[in-house]
This record gives sequence, structure tokens and C-alpha cells, in this order.
Amino acid sequence: MAHVDNVMPGKTLLQVRDLKKRFGHFEVLKTIDLAIEEGKVTFLIGPSGGGKSTLLRCLNFLEKPSGGEITFDGERLCGEEAGRFACAPESVLRRVRTRMPMVFQHFNLFNHRTVLENVVEGPIFVQRRNRDEAITHAQDILRRVGLYDWSDRFPGQLSGGQKQRVAIARAVAMKPDLILFDEPTSALDPELVSGVLDTIKALAEEGSTMVVVTHEMAFARRLADTVHFVCDGVIAESGPPAQLFDNPRSERLKNFIGSILR
Ligand SMILES: Nc1ncnc2c1ncn2[C@@H]1O[C@H](COP(=O)(O)OP(=O)(O)OP(=O)(O)O)[C@@H](O)[C@H]1O
Ligand SMILES: [Mg+2]
Repeated sequence: MAHVDNVMPGKTLLQVRDLKKRFGHFEVLKTIDLAIEEGKVTFLIGPSGGGKSTLLRCLNFLEKPSGGEITFDGERLCGEEAGRFACAPESVLRRVRTRMPMVFQHFNLFNHRTVLENVVEGPIFVQRRNRDEAITHAQDILRRVGLYDWSDRFPGQLSGGQKQRVAIARAVAMKPDLILFDEPTSALDPELVSGVLDTIKALAEEGSTMVVVTHEMAFARRLADTVHFVCDGVIAESGPPAQLFDNPRSERLKNFIGSILR
């Protein structure tokens, strides 16, 4: 389903160095260093307000960072230029965003377009791909997320879980290099969560590169290659899930894990 033909395990797809983000005087991201390898699944966990969404949104420039350096597939997208911080032109960032789409908590579908139209919109109108090829690809993706029979419905006729699977199909249809998920199940009724998690799991098993923000700790533990604990604008602790969940080193992570298990 995913665009994984050219995945090179071990290759760093996204490199983040000393990333900073301020809103006015409020420093939301203080200094973030992060490397995302191709084919790997990275989870971001941490307390509310810690900066997870802001970090995710800075990665694909939905939010402009205030400092630091981001390199994506060898292309530097922001950094110091003649002593001043600068981001790549908007045309470059738009192209990058199609390679690094984000799946949001609240789906962000076009409600006046059918499921199929939602999924082919990016490939046809943004990426200017061949219409017939885009439709065939979209139908294949919809089949795999179990929504082929719903292709002609409108989002308003779908459950939250189905909407979220359409949103995932939309991202996958772009043949992305990396998919960013910001709490993809937190707006769903409990009985709808597992269908969406299964879809994300299937993508991971096919080798898609993903960064996932979630409060679903059991899911993170099962699927993650690496977990980062984001707290107070820094990555306070990182490692494989077993290490972070079973052997947290910092008091902050111990408290966080204690609070969610309580
Ligand atoms: N546009 C904005 N303007 C001002 N402050 C903001 C803005 N966006 C986020 N913040 C602040 O930045 C901090 C981090 O927010 P962020 O949404 O990144 O946290 P989070 O870790 O995703 O939290 P949650 O788990 O609740 O989603 C919060 O204190 C928030 O109020
Ligand atoms: Mg958030």
C-alpha cells in the first residue's frame, strides 16, 4: 500500500539539529535533536503541552521553526544563512509537505467531496499525476483500508474511524516518504480505535517510515522502533520501547508512565 519501493534501511531521511520554536516570548521547543531513519517507526509520547504537536508541525513546516536545522532527504530546509536563520522558499516547503503528509486528530477531509475524490485530490491536483493511474492507485489503497465499497459516500456518512482511515488513505495516496500522525485515534470512540490502529500497523509492517504522536502506550510499545519522550520542549529520553517503558531513567518519565498506568 505504501510507497516503500526505494526504502533504504539505515539511511537517515530526516535530520533535526537544535530545533527551536517560540510563540512570542514562549519557547515551546527549546532544543530538539532527532534523526528519522527510513523504514522505521518513531513514536513521540509525553505530557499534554510538552510540545509534541508543535514538533510534528515543525517537521513539515506547517509551523515555521524559530531556529535550528532540518535536513530532509539530503536537502537542507532551514538553518543559518549568513548568520541569520532562514527557511527554504514556500514552493520548496509545499513540495516537501506532499512527501511528508500529516494525519490529524480531526481527519481534515473535504466534506463536500466523496471518499474517492478526497483520496485522489492530492495526487491529481497537487502532484499532477495521471488521473487514471491516480484513481486506480486510490482504489487499491481504499480496498486495503477496507473502504472500497464506500468510495462514493461523503465523509458525513462515515463513522469517525472510517473518516480517519480515509485520511490515512489520503496521505498514502501521495506516495509519501514519511507520514506524520498527530494523535490519530484520540478523537474516536473506543470501539473505533482498533480499526485505525490496525491500518497504521499494516503500514508499518509494509516498511513505511512514520512518526506517530499518541497516548496509546500499548500500541507504541508494540510497534515502535524508537520512542522519544517529549517534555517541556525537549526530548528528555529516547530509546527502544522496552527500555523507555520498563526502565525509565528520568524522574519525569517515571512520573509520566506512572500517571498513565494509574
Ligand atoms: N499557535 C500557538 N501559539 C501560542 N502557543 C502555542 C501555539 N501552539 C501551541 N502553543 C503552546 O505550546 C505548548 C506545546 O503545545 P503542543 O500542542 O505542541 O503540545 P502537545 O505536546 O502536542 O500537547 P497535547 O498532548 O495536549 O496535544 C503549549 O503550552 C501550547 O499552549
Ligand atoms: Mg498535541
